[in-house]
Amino acid sequence: MSEKPARPVLVTGASGALGRQVAAALGARGWNLVLTDIAPFPDAVPATARFARADLEDGVAILRLAEGCGTILHFGGVSTEHPFESVIGPNIKGLFHIYEAARRERARVFFASSNHAIGFHERTTRLDADCQLLPDSYYGLSKAYGEMMGRLYWFKHGVENVNVRIGSSFPEPTNARMLSTWLAYSDLVELCVRATLAAKTGSCVIWGASANTRTFWRGDARATLGWLPRESSDAFAAQVGGVVSTDPVEERYQGGAYCAIDYTRNEMAPRDIF
Ligand SMILES: NC(=O)c1ccc[n+]([C@@H]2O[C@H](COP(=O)([O-])OP(=O)(O)OC[C@H]3O[C@@H](n4cnc5c(N)ncnc54)[C@H](O)[C@@H]3O)[C@@H](O)[C@H]2O)c1
Repeated sequence: MSEKPARPVLVTGASGALGRQVAAALGARGWNLVLTDIAPFPDAVPATARFARADLEDGVAILRLAEGCGTILHFGGVSTEHPFESVIGPNIKGLFHIYEAARRERARVFFASSNHAIGFHERTTRLDADCQLLPDSYYGLSKAYGEMMGRLYWFKHGVENVNVRIGSSFPEPTNARMLSTWLAYSDLVELCVRATLAAKTGSCVIWGASANTRTFWRGDARATLGWLPRESSDAFAAQVGGVVSTDPVEERYQGGAYCAIDYTRNEMAPRDIF
């Protein structure tokens, strides 16, 4: 039997694309799970799990759900670009509620951050995890803020957190950019397992991508967790390598299409000045 965490694991965003994958896989391992989302759970609830609907903006509900939990796998919130006012409630206030619950329970937080927190780095740059945060959208800005919230709660309260800058987690890569950013579901699940079971994590950053040869990224805390991705986008290169856009902004930056949303500069930014 595979190793299980000592305390239950709270999974937010459980009804979403990634939450469902994680809920099913950890449920199949017999993990004691508390699943939550604002939307109904669309699958059969695993035998060792329970599901409760809640809004991340309801701090009391989140405190109650987290009671007794040792880890919070936080996938809930606005997961694509939206107007600023729509992002702040679920992604900023909601994350604050997650951290307050983690502080009370002495729990660890797995934060589903995003490559869009660093999206305005150029594709020709190989980034280390301690690179500048260069958000490419209001959504990416909320993820950058979320990573900073993790640092605050670690330094001030000792709340451990694993900030996973997820690239593109879909069944398969569908364009050339995703040959650099793809994260296979099986690698994501194993990362959740390692982040939960690791003896210590402190506050760390992980690039959430499979072992893709064309990666933009290097140098993160995966050795501390004992996580090694096993899948790779390389096998899809012939299939999707030619799938590119005609937008120079999208193609220049790591964040791709998110950089081009509502882009109002008349000229491209100079390469050496922020
Ligand atoms: N899928 C990817 O490639 C990818 C890439 C980068 C980051 N991420 C991050 O991973 C997480 C999961 O992504 P996903 O693709 O499964 O997104 P998703 O939109 O499918 O899932 C997000 C879930 O959050 C729930 N949610 C939204 N607002 C809520 C609220 N106020 N209260 C409670 N629940 C709420 C939604 O109902 C949804 O089920 C997100 O935080 C996303 O930003 C995903």
